[in-house]
Amino acid sequence: MQTLLVTGGAGFIGANFVHYMLDKYPDYRIVVYDKLTYAGNLDNLKAVWDNPRFAFVKGDICDRELVERTVREHGVDTIVNFAAETHVDRSIIDPDAFIHTNVYGTYVLLEVTKDLGLERFHQVSTDEVYGDIPFPHRSKESDPVRPRSPYSAAKASGDLLTLSYYTTYGLPVTITRGSNNVGPYQHLEKVVPLFTTNALEDKPLPVYGDGRQMRDYMWVLDHCEAIDLVLHKGELGEVYNVGTGEEIENLEMVEIILDTLGKPRSLVHFVEDRPGHDRRYAMDISKIKALGWTPRHSPREAVALAVRWYVENEWWWRRIKEGEFQEYYERVYGKRQVLKRGL
Ligand code: NAD
Ligand code: TYD
Repeated sequence: MQTLLVTGGAGFIGANFVHYMLDKYPDYRIVVYDKLTYAGNLDNLKAVWDNPRFAFVKGDICDRELVERTVREHGVDTIVNFAAETHVDRSIIDPDAFIHTNVYGTYVLLEVTKDLGLERFHQVSTDEVYGDIPFPHRSKESDPVRPRSPYSAAKASGDLLTLSYYTTYGLPVTITRGSNNVGPYQHLEKVVPLFTTNALEDKPLPVYGDGRQMRDYMWVLDHCEAIDLVLHKGELGEVYNVGTGEEIENLEMVEIILDTLGKPRSLVHFVEDRPGHDRRYAMDISKIKALGWTPRHSPREAVALAVRWYVENEWWWRRIKEGEFQEYYERVYGKRQVLKRGL
């Protein structure tokens, strides 16, 4: 493994992964292949742009010819696939791009891996494929997938295709299923950056439903470390859950944000719930722990660290918040009924 094609590397986790890998492996080369959708942001790659071991190609993972040409021209031996449509709320409004990128795009990358005989295809997936998990169960990798949103259904399809290429063609694949990541460069549509930047502007924090849903908020660089480990030590054809193994209620996440910023509870607005909102995600992480990884941060630490990054990096988020994001915000939140104000 020497030259990695990081698809979706201009997005949140992909960009963190690029920084992490270039820093850790002085002999690796990284080619970011990214369509630059609304979620792709070259500011996320500013710090590595002039690195001679880094290259950027603008392209769609559904464009087989361009993927193949990029792999050949750069001598890529490994594909790490972060490219995806990723926001559940957007998948509810318009699932089309989710099916194209998360299903067909994954298929294209698998075909290129097969035809060009690459060393590895790694699929970055999510705990959301397991669906809503009633307490006290924790999803194991052997559990069936029961996705409940167009986003998670498309991601589950990508996982199933990936595993089918292992079984059918003996393709060297691995999959990681991560929990909710937080940290630098996360798009403002996701809950922690949205609530943090709203609170900084003394705007309401729109909490869906009763706010008692549970998520395992993980520090993004912990996730990158786990993907790195699976790339190097993971068993082919295997799935690895990656999370802290601990969940907190959204209301607690909100309290951490407000307390870190010294903002009042009155900013909380309970609003109409997301349709089909999964109540709880919770994973058993013993398999990745046995491989040699352990999370460095708890969900509470991860959220607080993320909040501080947005406080210190207004240059990064101000431009997004003032752009087309305003239109999106109006579409998703404009007509949402406010059920209760204040915590
Ligand atoms: P993101 O939305 O921030 O970034 C996605 C990137 O993919 C963007 O740069 C975008 O331009 C690019 N992209 C989208 N469609 C493309 C296409 N057709 N061709 C090429 N590039 C395309 O996403 P993220 O939060 O960084 O998530 C990255 C991956 O990790 C996704 O596969 C996601 O399902 C998975 N994941 C995310 C989380 C999370 O909490 N964010 C948790 C677990 C797993
Ligand atoms: P999100 O960041 O969209 O991730 P996911 O839906 O993939 O888990 O949301 C995290 C949690 O926060 C989820 O339970 C939905 C909730 N949420 C809100 O309450 N209000 C919001 O405005 C958003 C975006 C999310």
